[in-house]
Amino acid sequence: MASGAGEETTAKSRILVVGATGHIGRHIVAAAARLGHPTTALVRDLSPSDQAKSQLLQSFRDAGVNLLHGDLYDHSSLVAAVRDADVVISALRAPQIPDQTNLIAAIKEATGGDVTRRIRFVPSEFGMDPERGGGGAVEPVRSIYAGKAAIRRAVEAAGIPHTYVACNYFAGFALPTIGQFLPMSPPVDSVVIIGDGSTKVVFVEEADIGTLTVRAAVDPHAENKAVHIRPAANTVSHEELIALWEKKTGKKMERVYVPEDVLLTKIQAYIKGGMTTPLDPASDVEATQLYPDVKYTTVDDYLDRLL
Ligand SMILES: NC(=O)c1ccc[n+]([C@@H]2O[C@H](COP(=O)([O-])OP(=O)(O)OC[C@H]3O[C@@H](n4cnc5c(N)ncnc54)[C@H](OP(=O)(O)O)[C@@H]3O)[C@@H](O)[C@H]2O)c1
Repeated sequence: MASGAGEETTAKSRILVVGATGHIGRHIVAAAARLGHPTTALVRDLSPSDQAKSQLLQSFRDAGVNLLHGDLYDHSSLVAAVRDADVVISALRAPQIPDQTNLIAAIKEATGGDVTRRIRFVPSEFGMDPERGGGGAVEPVRSIYAGKAAIRRAVEAAGIPHTYVACNYFAGFALPTIGQFLPMSPPVDSVVIIGDGSTKVVFVEEADIGTLTVRAAVDPHAENKAVHIRPAANTVSHEELIALWEKKTGKKMERVYVPEDVLLTKIQAYIKGGMTTPLDPASDVEATQLYPDVKYTTVDDYLDRLL
């Protein structure tokens, strides 16, 4: 029986996460295991001397995650990892974005031209849509988005089933400072506003990004679509975010406005937007509408934790 929009089949998919130990990758691994999918994390160092990383790997093992040694630059390790996967999710960082062609090559080799052996690929994006708001970015971010768009074209040219995830801002990067880029600390008496503070942006908690990414990655309705994570309650302007913080703390802040050219490399999301541009129903879906049962952390909830 066909399932309706957003209703994935109950069948489990073998999920491989590359970049599993990273800031967002660890949340994708946790969500995949929690949702009951046989999950493998490709890891460069299985016995790291760094204690935090060692504890992270132990948390993966405790969650039943299979740890597999491999490297983006070791082709045979990639093919071996990909061969046993139904879905490959990449959470590699910016310098490795262009080199995800290695993953595309590994997927092609693992399927061996067998059209019935489908491996879905979710390339590392996890920001603004590289072909919408991302296109308005300035360097060095512009090149990163161009690299992400080029990977989309390479995936499509290879005929690999795919899902793109545009999750907008990681809440953990922006909310603890109430959206300030400078200084990198919570505001006390005054708050720095880039631009005029009226542009709407979207904040999504990393655990919710993990959950919604995995839900979409195994969902037939999200195949060959761009999945945008735009929780309605988390779509706020910087002014609205500050007003919410003022309401919670009972303290009014002095506003210091910084002109565009001073912080040009960091401010495009706030000044020019791009996280709320209209979606195209033919190619885009919004994740919290597709999966309304996922109770996401709202900006309001998140700020309560900071009090
Ligand atoms: N929306 C936002 O606010 C936001 C913010 C930041 C980043 N992003 C985007 O999110 C994505 C992931 O970024 P991130 O900050 O989560 O990354 P990150 O924390 O830097 O993690 C990168 C991961 O890639 C792994 N890795 C690096 N080189 C590798 C190699 N040669 N082979 C295999 N694995 C390798 C690292 O493993 P090791 O542990 O071995 O180093 C780590 O697990 C990127 O597309 C980035 O542009 C979005």
